[in-house]
Amino acid sequence: MARILVTSALPYINGIKHLGNLIGSMLPADAYARYCRARGHEVLLICATDEHGTPAELAAAKAGQPVADYCAEMWAVQKRLGEGFRLSFDFFGRSSSARNHQLTQHLAGRLAEAGLIEERAEKQVYSQADGRFLPDRYIEGTCPECGYARARGDQCENCTKQLDPTDLIEPRSVISGSTDLEVRETRHLYLKQSAMRERLNAWIDAQADWPLLTTSIARKWLNEGDGLRDRGITRDLDWGIPVRRGSEDWPGMAGKVFYVWFDAPIEYIAATAEWADAQGLGDEAWQRWWREDLGAHDVRYVQFMAKDNVPFHTLSFPVTLMGANFDGAEPWKLVDYIKGFNWLTYEGGKFSTSQGRGVFMDQALDILPSDYWRWWLLANAPEGSDSDFTWAAFQGGVNKDLADVLGNFVSRVTKFCRAKFGEAVPEGGEYGEAEAAVTAEIARRTKAYEDHWEAMEIRKAAAELRAIWAAGNEYLQAAAPWVTIKQDPGRAAASIRMGLNLIRLYAILSRPFVPDASDAMLAALGVEGDAEAWPGDIGEALSALPAGHGFTVPSNLFAKISDDAREEMEARFAGENG
Ligand code: 2FM
Ligand code: ZN
Repeated sequence: MARILVTSALPYINGIKHLGNLIGSMLPADAYARYCRARGHEVLLICATDEHGTPAELAAAKAGQPVADYCAEMWAVQKRLGEGFRLSFDFFGRSSSARNHQLTQHLAGRLAEAGLIEERAEKQVYSQADGRFLPDRYIEGTCPECGYARARGDQCENCTKQLDPTDLIEPRSVISGSTDLEVRETRHLYLKQSAMRERLNAWIDAQADWPLLTTSIARKWLNEGDGLRDRGITRDLDWGIPVRRGSEDWPGMAGKVFYVWFDAPIEYIAATAEWADAQGLGDEAWQRWWREDLGAHDVRYVQFMAKDNVPFHTLSFPVTLMGANFDGAEPWKLVDYIKGFNWLTYEGGKFSTSQGRGVFMDQALDILPSDYWRWWLLANAPEGSDSDFTWAAFQGGVNKDLADVLGNFVSRVTKFCRAKFGEAVPEGGEYGEAEAAVTAEIARRTKAYEDHWEAMEIRKAAAELRAIWAAGNEYLQAAAPWVTIKQDPGRAAASIRMGLNLIRLYAILSRPFVPDASDAMLAALGVEGDAEAWPGDIGEALSALPAGHGFTVPSNLFAKISDDAREEMEARFAGENG
């Protein structure tokens, strides 16, 4: 038994997440954590909302709410939707928590002590009407190159020229439209990432087992051009974590907050402290996951994220943690394995939060139960490359894999048994050659399934699980108890006994993908307590339910998606979202 810490990238607070966000970190983190728990490991699965930054402020303004109220509401919405998708977070925190304020300020203080923070003066656009400095993206004007009227302060999207806000002709605030802008000097803190380059390189060199997607992104930023630039870690905003040096004021930094990407990953740790607080546990309870000197030396820490998050997790966050341990007094736990994902696209284009394009978590749950989405998304996770959500592919996956294979198997076995033998595992007959063959096949496939999970190859794990379900169907088809029952009822009884035991095994193996169906199967068999009874020996597992053990026929596990229903959803989403 090992101790495994799993974190999912923190979803931004500004709005309900779409299926691309879900499969990019939260859902695979949950499935992996479920697998690890089922294998008997001690697992802690942590997530939270990422609440700071300008997008949160703007979303709140758009909703006409104070930003703190907006965040509190959206946190509750996201938490509820996570529960709807059965995301088994041990804790779903908030990056705006008191714990994160305190820890972020503490770590910034440590970095300053380490000599890794430098103050620099810079010039930035200030809007009188908005009473604030404007980030580049919140300034629009006419492109000096091509005359496009809505060029942004960082780039013209018409001619792609990279711009500075001061290049724009007639610049105006995106927030208020005001043109009363001026350039002011402001001072900010910079994290001297470049000073840590050697250490980072050595650390990444030591990660021999990381996937190429992760290390290549890290190395690119680390070694190409001005990749590992020192990073501004403060902003002139109201909403965020006030810049303090530990518990003391930071001279010259009054009114400023830390940059959202500085405090967000720290929330992985702070959320663990929030979890301990919520459990009524002391600091040692979270420190044993995060501090090498306080018990975390034998923790395996796995992070899940989409690929655009990789630089922050391979460079910036490790710099924060390594830098804070400059004197060896605070050995923070660094990540052991990063599972990065490519993009999920929607009907060949991008999912877009701002344009409402694609299917969002709330809509998905209104349409169909979470298992349907979980299965399709995990089985088609954008691991090696991007993958495309289409309604046709979704319909195909649900109907073929869930309804025709797993659901149909459960239904045929339980209904046939009820009709011919009653609602208990039938007696008589013995397992013979056919049973030995299916047992051997499933034993071999279960081993492969475990290996794929250990390697976090989720699509391969799904394919293997599908093959395990199919093996049961083929066995049943060949055993044909509806035929043998006439001449050899003992044979039919043995086949059905095997079938019922296969259902129990499927419930356990399928749980990381389809937890609700797993619950329904276990409940029908009256073995709810076996949810995490991962099979050691498959032969034994397939004899676990003895003759005479009662069961009930579960209601249909999966309904097929009809062509009409699919067309209706296609049209509905095309209509709503353009
Ligand atoms: O890209 C995103 O959705 C970010 N909110 C992820 C943050 S992950 C962590 F660092 F907090
Ligand atoms: Zn232009």
